[in-house]
Amino acid sequence: MQRALLLLSFIPFLACQPSSKNTQEKPSVDSTQTLVSELDSTSIDLVEKKATLGKAETITVTNDPVFHKTKTFEAIPLGNVLKQIPAYAHLKPEETQVVFECEDGYNPSMPLTKVISSKAYLAIRDKDAAAGEDWTTLQKGPETKKIAPFYICYTDGRGNDPTYKWPYNLVKISLTSASKETAALFPKHDDSVVKGYGLFKTHCLTCHALNGVGGTLGPELNRPKSVTEYWKTGDLKAFIANPERYRDRVKMPNLGLKKKEIDEIVGYLSYMAKQ
Ligand code: HEC
Repeated sequence: MQRALLLLSFIPFLACQPSSKNTQEKPSVDSTQTLVSELDSTSIDLVEKKATLGKAETITVTNDPVFHKTKTFEAIPLGNVLKQIPAYAHLKPEETQVVFECEDGYNPSMPLTKVISSKAYLAIRDKDAAAGEDWTTLQKGPETKKIAPFYICYTDGRGNDPTYKWPYNLVKISLTSASKETAALFPKHDDSVVKGYGLFKTHCLTCHALNGVGGTLGPELNRPKSVTEYWKTGDLKAFIANPERYRDRVKMPNLGLKKKEIDEIVGYLSYMAKQ
């Protein structure tokens, strides 16, 4: 399944190659270049910059929530990596969101203040890897997950708090304006769904977009039609509670949410359907 997703995410990439080549051959290169440099200035391609990301140290992560054991990595303090993003120096930390972009479309994000006030690291090598290799893979039920090329972890606990993200198979980090995300997703006209909005941001936005903002591992949930318009409410809630009850080999995990939390999230999705 993971493989299939990877392939899918490569198709647009491959499809882009010829056209970007074409643009380079045309004389009207200017606008493309501006766009590219703008994008570059708020993000860092970790794979491309691997050699210059910074000095790695050996760290120990107790109770790593991804590997479910204590792990040792070679890792670079994440703060040092973020500082290499050109826009970093001009951004206000309290208004900035860090978006972790994984190869398969999983895009979790965290407020920059939260990242820099924790002991976050960019792991570049697993000490348990075989000689000559950087990473081991991870067996999750029937699936084999690829941890390479990079993994975000913390040495100050944080494993039990779902607002701290531990993405693996990470390829890029971007900084975005938190207010842009809030403008697209915050329920401005209904206080009663604010709680659902917070839960959605923590548990769903990593994989799903709403109005184009968010992860791409799962489908967009609001555009052009909201899932609340074509799923019966009872089924929608039961699916979120346990996706495997609805589809074999489903790629959405059981998130272990409480019934009340699911009600709040679906309340928020129904509100967003009208926005
Ligand atoms: C780890 C990634 C991930 C997370 C987190 C996640 N989903 Fe999903 N979701 C998926 C994927 C992948 C699918 C496609 C399911 C499949 O395999 O058919 C999906 C499918 C869905 C669907 C069905 C869409 C359709 O029309 O078929 C709904 C509804 C949904 N997710 C809601 C949610 C909600 C609400 C949350 C948060 C509580 C959430 N998901 C969290 C990955 C995720």
